Amino acid sequence: MSTYLITGCGRGIGLALARQLLERGDDVIGSVRDGEPPIRHERLRTVRFDVRNPEAIDAARDSIDGPVDVLVNNAGIAGERTDRAHAAGVDDFAEVLDVNVLGPLRVTRAFLPLLGRSDQPKVMAVSSQLGGMTFPPTGHVAYCASKAALNKLMQAMAHDLRQDGIPLVIAHPGWVRTDMGGPSASIAPEESAAGLVNLLDDLTLATTGRFMNWDGSERAW
Ligand SMILES: NC(=O)c1ccc[n+]([C@@H]2O[C@H](COP(=O)([O-])OP(=O)(O)OC[C@H]3O[C@@H](n4cnc5c(N)ncnc54)[C@H](OP(=O)(O)O)[C@@H]3O)[C@@H](O)[C@H]2O)c1
Repeated sequence: MSTYLITGCGRGIGLALARQLLERGDDVIGSVRDGEPPIRHERLRTVRFDVRNPEAIDAARDSIDGPVDVLVNNAGIAGERTDRAHAAGVDDFAEVLDVNVLGPLRVTRAFLPLLGRSDQPKVMAVSSQLGGMTFPPTGHVAYCASKAALNKLMQAMAHDLRQDGIPLVIAHPGWVRTDMGGPSASIAPEESAAGLVNLLDDLTLATTGRFMNWDGSERAW
């Protein structure tokens, strides 16, 4: 059984992932910004940080004794929708990049020492098909750009972490019925989470650095 650290585990995909991993016997360290996740479990531990706050991330890391086997960078925001790309609000754009790109950079960097203490370390970045350069533009230009940047960052990290024996997968979780995905989305959080767990179970250094769909198929960049 492994220890998973999941960012943004108070709701949505992060919460569904935590539930499934706990059900099959893994340990979960779930990050929330405030309060408690809406589940209690003897193998669930909560840490508190905003992914924009490096001091809080480091303090959470320092509060954990054992190794972290699997880091799931899940927390993210959609930002504003605009009719025209050139009308995107600069402050909103900067916040989306801060949370969706620099957040996973800060968290991964902070937790590398704990991943380094694992026998079988792995990293996942929860990205989006909207970050694919081959995917048609949408009104969420900041979000799309952030996930494209996340993909490129994580591709580079996968390349570098290979020498440390840490495989990394970049995952599109599907269009999921969460606060972000909305009620019309095509799959339930449980279905997405099951797919993400399979991706992590199958992840090895031989498959590191790929952009994968929740259903196990490979995505175009
Ligand atoms: N839903 C979809 O259809 C879909 C599709 C493609 C990709 N994704 C990606 O999947 C991931 C999870 O999305 P979701 O649908 O589960 O979204 P969600 O229901 O809106 O949940 C977002 C999670 O991220 C956390 N979060 C947001 N800003 C944060 C910050 N600054 N610091 C720490 N945590 C923060 C939230 O915490 P609080 O509760 O404190 O706000 C919450 O736990 C995101 O990366 C998203 O881009 C989702």
